[in-house]
Amino acid sequence: MYIYETSAYPKEHEQLKELREATVQKYNDLSVVNVPVDEAQFLAMLLKLMNDKKTLEIGVFTGYSLLTTALTLPEDGKGEEGSFDFVFVDAYKSDYLKFHELTLKLVKVGGIVAYDNTLWYGSVAQSEKEVVEDLIKRYRNFVVEFNSFIAADPRVESSLLSIGDRLTLCRRLY
Ligand SMILES: C[S@@+](CC[C@H](N)C(=O)[O-])C[C@H]1O[C@@H](n2cnc3c(N)ncnc32)[C@H](O)[C@@H]1O
Repeated sequence: MYIYETSAYPKEHEQLKELREATVQKYNDLSVVNVPVDEAQFLAMLLKLMNDKKTLEIGVFTGYSLLTTALTLPEDGKGEEGSFDFVFVDAYKSDYLKFHELTLKLVKVGGIVAYDNTLWYGSVAQSEKEVVEDLIKRYRNFVVEFNSFIAADPRVESSLLSIGDRLTLCRRLY
């Protein structure tokens, strides 16, 4: 809450604020499915630093992260297939490994693929038996497997960031 209130909310884009509030009104507790505001602001800064023009998102809820990306794109930013600068993956965790193979073909060498929720609400650091919540339990092993795979994948340089429910950045090397 401290980070949100003192750092993230004061700099939130007006349209993102409207979208976030409308999502809370419509979906209540399910609104946590949107990426958190501090994570979105990190993504926006990353995209600007990289001067990204071609981006793709896999897994859209009410579009908080998608709008974040759209607001950073320059006038000539495009979304057609090809050599993407940046791909954001926030879909079902059981598909992450499959998406990794696909996104590595879509993103250019030097481009970034970002995977959301790689801590899976802390469950990856717990034993399987300790995890009780159904939804968390269902996807825990997929995220554990995904994290190990990325750590050993020579095609990417990776960094697991302590933001939101954690975010893994993979930079395609070849
Ligand atoms: C966690 S939410 C995405 C939230 C989004 N990042 C935001 O900030 O609004 C995941 C979404 O991905 C969708 N999804 C899951 N698996 C998918 C797939 N294989 N292809 C496309 N969408 C998928 C789900 O329906 C859900 O709406």
